[in-house]
Parts: sequence; C-alpha cells; structure tokens
Amino acid sequence: MEATGRSALYVCCVLLILTEVSSELIHIPSLVHHGIEGKSMLLSVETRYPLEDVEIQGTWSHTRPSGTRTTLVAFTKEATIINMMYRNHLLFKEPNVSLIIRELNHEDEGDYHLNLNIEFNNQTGLVIKEERTVHVTVDVPVSNPVIQKSPSYAVVEDKANATLTCSVERGTRVVFQWLRDNQTLGASNRYHFTQDNSTLFISTVRKEDKGTYHCVASNAVSQGLHSRAVDLNVYYGPYNLEVNSDQGLRTGEVFTINPGELVFFECQADSNPPNSYVWISKSRNATQVIYEGPRLEVRSYKLAQAEEYLCRAFNNVTQKQDETQFTLVVAKYLAGKEKHIQEGSNFPPFAAVVVSSLFIISCMLLFFLKRTCSPKRVLMSIYNRPLSEQKRPHRSGHEDATEDFGIYEFVSVPGKMESAQASCRSLARLESVQDMHTTIYDVIRHVPETPSHSLLE
Ligand SMILES: *[C@@H]1O[C@H](CO)[C@@H](O)[C@H](O)[C@H]1NC(C)=O
Ligand SMILES: *[C@@H]1O[C@H](CO)[C@@H](O)[C@H](O)[C@H]1NC(C)=O
Ligand SMILES: *[C@@H]1O[C@H](CO)[C@@H](O)[C@H](O)[C@H]1NC(C)=O
Ligand SMILES: *[C@@H]1O[C@H](CO)[C@@H](O)[C@H](O)[C@H]1NC(C)=O
Ligand SMILES: *[C@@H]1O[C@H](CO)[C@@H](O)[C@H](O)[C@H]1NC(C)=O
Ligand SMILES: *[C@@H]1O[C@H](CO)[C@@H](O)[C@H](O)[C@H]1NC(C)=O
Ligand SMILES: *[C@@H]1O[C@H](CO)[C@@H](O)[C@H](O)[C@H]1NC(C)=O
Repeated sequence: MEATGRSALYVCCVLLILTEVSSELIHIPSLVHHGIEGKSMLLSVETRYPLEDVEIQGTWSHTRPSGTRTTLVAFTKEATIINMMYRNHLLFKEPNVSLIIRELNHEDEGDYHLNLNIEFNNQTGLVIKEERTVHVTVDVPVSNPVIQKSPSYAVVEDKANATLTCSVERGTRVVFQWLRDNQTLGASNRYHFTQDNSTLFISTVRKEDKGTYHCVASNAVSQGLHSRAVDLNVYYGPYNLEVNSDQGLRTGEVFTINPGELVFFECQADSNPPNSYVWISKSRNATQVIYEGPRLEVRSYKLAQAEEYLCRAFNNVTQKQDETQFTLVVAKYLAGKEKHIQEGSNFPPFAAVVVSSLFIISCMLLFFLKRTCSPKRVLMSIYNRPLSEQKRPHRSGHEDATEDFGIYEFVSVPGKMESAQASCRSLARLESVQDMHTTIYDVIRHVPETPSHSLLE
C-alpha cells in the first residue's frame, strides 16, 4: 500500500517535471543584458505560477568574471533580505522576483543567477526548482570617432604607404570598422589592420585606394558612430589613353575625313592630376609637335593624302606618360548629298546613318514600284514564263530576290535630259554601317563606267 502510494507520487513527480519542461514556471525574456555605465538595469522575470497557491523561496546571486560569487538577495513570499553591501544598489521586485541594479558600474558585470524553489500548496512535499543565469555587461557609450590620416598630403601611386587611424575619447570595448566610398574594407595583402582595427595601414598605395574614408566605432551600447570623411588623394596615370572624334569615319587606328572638313580630335586618358597633352605629327619624316592641349583641330585641306599623328599624355606628378598613334586619311567617304547635310548642320553620325537608311529604303521602294509597273515585265510574267522557270523562279536575273536585296543609289546619268530619270543598282549585301559608306562611294565611282547595267537587263 505504501509502496504503491510512493510510486504514484514518483510518477506524478516525473509527469510534473516533464510538463514543467514544456511550460516553465518562470520566464526571463533576455538572458544577455548590455548595460550602460551609470544607468540602471532591470533583470526582468515573468512568473507563470498562481501566486496565491504556492510558496516560494529563492535567491539572486552574482558571479564576477573573476569567479567570486556573492548572494545578493534571499527571498520568500513574505520576506526579502538584500545583502547589506548592496542595499542602495539593488531593488528587488516582488511578486515577480525581478531585480533592478541601479547606477551600473564595471563591478556589476558577470553572471546573475536566479534560484527559485516553488512549492504548490495543494501538493505538499513537491518542490519545483527553477534556475536561470543572466549575463550582464556594462559599457561606456562610444564618443564620436576621430579619424586621422598620414601622410596628410596626396600620395603618388606605387610610391607611398598610407596610415589611417581612428580613435575615440570615450567608450569601452570599442570595435572599429573602415569604409571607403561607403564600402566596408577588409584585410588584404595591402590592407593591414591592428588588433582592434583602430588603424588601417595601406602598404603601397594604388589608384583604387583613392576615395573617401570613414571609420565607424561601435560597442554593445552604441551603434555605428561615423567619423568625419577623409579623402585619400592618389596621383596616378595616365591610363587608357585614347583619341576620339565626333567627325570623320573611324576604322581601327585610321580616321577618314572628307576633303575640306574641319575636324576636332579629343585625346583622353585617366589620370590624376589631369594630364598635359601633346600632339605630334609624323608625316614629314621627322616628328614635330604641332599642338599642346587635349583638343586638336585639323583642317583637311592643309593635309596630304594620309598623315600619321600621335597624342602623348604626360602626368607631371607621376612622371609617367603614354602615347597613341593614328592615321588621318582625307578622302570622300560619303555621297555628296549626305556630306552636305553633315557639313551644313554638324549632324551626329547616327543621324547620318538614319538619313542614308531612309534614302536607301525610298530607293528600294521606287525600284520595286518600277519593277511591278513595267509593262514588259508584266507581259513576260504572263505569257513568256516557261514551266521549268516557274518551278525554279530564282533563275531569271531580276526575279532573284536575294540579288534585289541591298543598297540602292540614285545616280544622274550624264547626258540624259530627264532630270527625274534615275537608275538604281543593287549592291552587295549590307554588312555594317562602315561597309555601307564605302559601297555607296563605290557605286558613285563606278556607275558612269557601266551605264548599260540597267534594270531591265
Ligand atoms: C515585475 O514587477 C515590476 C514592479 O511591479 C514591474 O515594473 C515589472 O515590469 C515586472 N516585470 C515583469 C516581467 O512582469
Ligand atoms: C494544484 O494547484 C495547481 C494550481 O492551482 C493546479 O494547476 C494543479 O492541478 C493542482 N494539483 C492538484 C494535484 O490538485
Ligand atoms: C611601405 O611599407 C612597406 C612595408 O609594409 C615598406 O617595405 C616600404 O618601404 C614602405 N614604403 C614607403 C614609401 O614608406
Ligand atoms: C555614403 O553614404 C552617405 C549617406 O549614407 C551619402 O551621403 C554619401 O553620398 C555616400 N558616399 C558615397 C561615395 O557613396
Ligand atoms: C576587424 O575588421 C574585420 C573586417 O571588417 C572584421 O572581420 C574583424 O572581426 C574586425 N576585428 C575586430 C577585433 O573588430
Ligand atoms: C603640371 O601640370 C599642370 C597642368 O597640367 C601645371 O599646372 C603644373 O604647373 C605642372 N607642374 C609642373 C611641375 O610642371
Ligand atoms: C628621312 O630622314 C632621313 C635622315 O634623317 C633620310 O635619310 C631619309 O631620306 C628621309 N626620308 C624621306 C622620305 O625624306
């Protein structure tokens, strides 16, 4: 009888402990607390037992990082005893057994243990133990970080190191972070940080190190305080030297310009400080400096058929230079009409392409119109087409669609009085804009030689 009673109690106890695991009788919302020095901190506890039905008995104790353990508060439902040493420092909150630490200082850091025995009135002899540990740190908020740079002046790429230092007047356990142009910097073979990241050392400064630097200081109680910005100026270059022109036709290193055209060439390179530019002509056996500055003006009528030019960029701080060569050819590369448009209103190349495309399309339309309306052709297609030709329509010259596809150009035939009379000619397939220009040019040149090559061949 006694044995069954005891085992029943034991089973009951196990059950209670099991249910206790899923629904704890106390809950501490946060087991880690970061306190601010001088402020108070609440170690908050939520009780989940019916206060009137239980007897409680417990303690709050403190373990310092050094390991010494002190009991701070001992309490029951009726009475509370606060350690004499902490009487003004602690506030114990009944009935929820929360603890308040006032005017935090460094000494308050460590682990706080809550031990609680709960005994239900309707179940004498059954005591449930609850134990929790809360970790507390106490920090001084971080003051605004101050950034310093050494050397303070601009440095030359590949020839100097730079050191950036971040410091704070106040703050404990401060961690530092570095940003360049708002991007976080990490350690690399050229970027070295001190243990606490307060110093960034750049060994052998490069072009890509140029930028605006910030340091960010933070700790557990201060989030990301940014220093003022510091610019690291790096002299570098010249890099990526190139010559460009809005006018003329470019093919690799060769620019073709129309006779009589006034052309500007722009020389550009990535460099700090900006380069000085020199233009050199290599046309007359010996080289000759013809202009200083980034923009060269060339009047084509002053040129021979083709001339070699050279743009040289020089950075007088890095003492480095680069040069690029190009050839200038004076030749007609656009049909007369289009050239006038271009010269007249300084059309961009794109507009020139559009105009020529429109021209070609209207030309093609006219060609097809003429083809379909020609009585001779109509008659031919009605009566004269043999069966074999119908089966192989691509045999007769102008029914061949692939041959018809291409570029068409109006050319006035000298001697013919009807000024509106025009002849069209199909050309080889259009491959690029560049090709288009040259092919048009070819047509103009060749048409008078083969005037008989007409539509109704
Ligand atoms: C515990 O009690 C104190 C005082 O009554 C109250 O300020 C605090 O919010 C309570 N904490 C919880 C977790 O209920
Ligand atoms: C004892 O009381 C608690 C709360 O009042 C209740 O949840 C529990 O079921 C009771 N236990 C028994 C054995 O009556
Ligand atoms: C830069 O630092 C490296 C080592 O980190 C050193 O060898 C080198 O001499 C330094 N260069 C200058 C210009 O101070
Ligand atoms: C960096 O971020 C700040 C604000 O977050 C912005 O004002 C500034 O323009 C940014 N700088 C760069 C280089 O993106
Ligand atoms: C230093 O900075 C790096 C990169 O931002 C970071 O990974 C590292 O944890 C930092 N170290 C310290 C001690 O703050
Ligand atoms: C370097 O070049 C800049 C402009 O290109 C010029 O103002 C400066 O006087 C030059 N310095 C030297 C030392 O030649
Ligand atoms: C270029 O100059 C060299 C000597 O400076 C001379 O021998 C050569 O004939 C010249 N060539 C031309 C095309 O003038």
